[in-house]
Amino acid sequence: MDVSNAMTIKMDEIFTSLPEMPDFEEGIRRAPKRPMHLNKGEIALALKNALRYLPEAWHNILASEFLDELLTYGRIYGYRFRPVGRISGKPIDEYQGKCVEGKAFQVMIENNLDFEISLYPYELVTYGETGQVCQNWMQYRIIKKYLENVTQDQTLVVESGHPLGLFKSAPTSPRAIITNAMMIGLFDDQENWERAMSLGVANYGQMTAGGWMYIGPQGIVHGTYGTLLNAARMELGVAEDGDLTGKFFVTSGLGGMSGAQGKAIEIANGVGIIAEVDLSRIQTRFDQGWVSQITRDAGETFAAAKKAVAEKKAVAIAFHGNVVDLLEYAVNNNISIELLSDQTSCHVAHGGGYCPQGLTFEQRTDMLKNDPEGFTKKVDASLVRHYTLIKTLVDRGTYFFDYGNAFMRAVFDAGVTEICKNGENTLDGFIFPSYVEDIMGPLMFDYGYGPFRWVCLSGKESDLLKTDQAAMACIDPDRRSQDRDNYIWIRDAQKNKLVVGTQARILYQDAMGRVTIALKFNDMVRKGEIGPVMLGRDHHDTGGTDSPFRETANIKDGSNIMADMAIQCFAGNCARGMSLVALHNGGGVGIGKAINGGFGLVLDGSSRVDDVIRRAMLWDVMGGVARRSWARNENSMETCVEFNDMCKGEAHITIPYLTDEKMIADLVDKKYKK
Ligand SMILES: NC(=O)c1ccc[n+]([C@@H]2O[C@H](COP(=O)([O-])OP(=O)(O)OC[C@H]3O[C@@H](n4cnc5c(N)ncnc54)[C@H](O)[C@@H]3O)[C@@H](O)[C@H]2O)c1
Repeated sequence: MDVSNAMTIKMDEIFTSLPEMPDFEEGIRRAPKRPMHLNKGEIALALKNALRYLPEAWHNILASEFLDELLTYGRIYGYRFRPVGRISGKPIDEYQGKCVEGKAFQVMIENNLDFEISLYPYELVTYGETGQVCQNWMQYRIIKKYLENVTQDQTLVVESGHPLGLFKSAPTSPRAIITNAMMIGLFDDQENWERAMSLGVANYGQMTAGGWMYIGPQGIVHGTYGTLLNAARMELGVAEDGDLTGKFFVTSGLGGMSGAQGKAIEIANGVGIIAEVDLSRIQTRFDQGWVSQITRDAGETFAAAKKAVAEKKAVAIAFHGNVVDLLEYAVNNNISIELLSDQTSCHVAHGGGYCPQGLTFEQRTDMLKNDPEGFTKKVDASLVRHYTLIKTLVDRGTYFFDYGNAFMRAVFDAGVTEICKNGENTLDGFIFPSYVEDIMGPLMFDYGYGPFRWVCLSGKESDLLKTDQAAMACIDPDRRSQDRDNYIWIRDAQKNKLVVGTQARILYQDAMGRVTIALKFNDMVRKGEIGPVMLGRDHHDTGGTDSPFRETANIKDGSNIMADMAIQCFAGNCARGMSLVALHNGGGVGIGKAINGGFGLVLDGSSRVDDVIRRAMLWDVMGGVARRSWARNENSMETCVEFNDMCKGEAHITIPYLTDEKMIADLVDKKYKK
């Protein structure tokens, strides 16, 4: 079959001649070898799978090159097809395309792959250790080609990174529908996913990596800032309008998302120590001004923190070393820590996300490659020690909370059943609070507050400043403490120098807040005051994600093992005309443990987009609030009562009748005894 001629969008324009293997630039982080357990027959299948993107004439050369990649890296990335040099999200006018959405998505993808943003840019990993834009560089090139060609009447379909094609749709349909790692239930586990990844038929989208909505670590700073403020208000006696002045936080991780912790603690005026084993990541955050001091010695680190606490100075100190060693020092020297968390990548603890005590970062990379079984044992031993130290500190008065990185789950998997509430299994949750279950869930998601964000596609800082001002004018700081925090956040956003990569902004907002701001921005685009804007959100939100160990951890009606909400959110956003919709398996907690989805909406100033904002943005949040309300979450019920009143005749949410707890308990008790 003459495949090249069968494709009317000419792929051979992309693959005109076999490109030279590009050099790997010094100093750019590289992904460790990924687990690869394929047998001989499966290796042959993986090669055929990768070669189907490329003309037959090159197969002889590429087959052995791809085999080398598979055996060396555990994956076929097709390095040769990566464009040479730095990729970055440029102003939208510099892209080719037949519609504004096609160009906008290219800005977003390229921002996700920027050397300054991406965790492992050569391996297409944006953040979260394994979260990829797509699987390989052949897919990247074809996706880009399709985005240059997609029209207002077509939709690009991307299945686990693979661009299936452009299909006829309508101007009111999404321009891109993306799914990642959606596995059949029976096979929905780490082992089968690893096999599928090595075969080249699955992609780990994390959340905004494969959903093309990552905006650098800023995207997570606002949530971290809110979490820290509210943890201190709940546990340290800080006033409702107070911040972290004179308060002390210890944590780990300066990677993709965890890298936000230093910035957040400083914005909240507190003192933080962040342990990080990889010096290059520390350097990145230091160069960005996101940590202000680097230390190597635990004693010196705690002394610097103590001084800053006494002087009530805002400081983020990066400790170059293992968090377990740091905590060991704190326990042995009776150092008091007020707030404690952890953001190592425990969702892939055995796959490189967690560096065990006793190994440097470089030794971890070697051992992962040469002795994966020995590495697993070391990780488990370190997690057990880590847990014991935390428990000691908690017994001494520290408030520890899990930061959604599957730390408690990893400790359980390492054999510590006492970390479970019921001492046996994870069904009733864990003994330590989690940031969603106890803080973000009730105080943010249940009301609908979530990580709303936007990118000024013109690339102009002046557009971002105008949108900051416009968004601020839409917030009433006196409505709730959340609104006051959000108001202060956006007021100070420019001063806090949050932008890394494209001109983007994060701003937690509830449903009506998001709609009001989006309509205002679209009007500004219409009037020519700013260029087009890409709106979106992190998947880590009220309604887009079903994840019993994280986003839906505070849902207690038994439905936290169901994924109906995330799928309804995705389908509803498609039906209501979002520009881009994405649905993924896994996210921050790991394969089989969450279904998460997100959207992108390009504001082009049209009245069509006004309608999408009114229909889809409201649905995107309120679908989640409605489900939380049905689970009897008090703050969501209150929000739904307001919504039903406000939307009379237009929309309506079913609200649960509450039962008399005592009556039920007595009844069950009586019957059960009989
Ligand atoms: N920030 C958030 O809001 C948020 C929300 C939900 C989940 N998470 C989770 O947090 C985790 C981190 O995310 P990320 O994107 O930053 O991942 P990442 O892999 O980019 O960063 C983790 C960092 O931890 C470091 N590290 C690993 N083991 C260590 C150890 N023992 N001591 C000190 N440092 C160590 C790694 O070198 C790495 O830089 C993930 O599991 C993610 O899903 C974060």
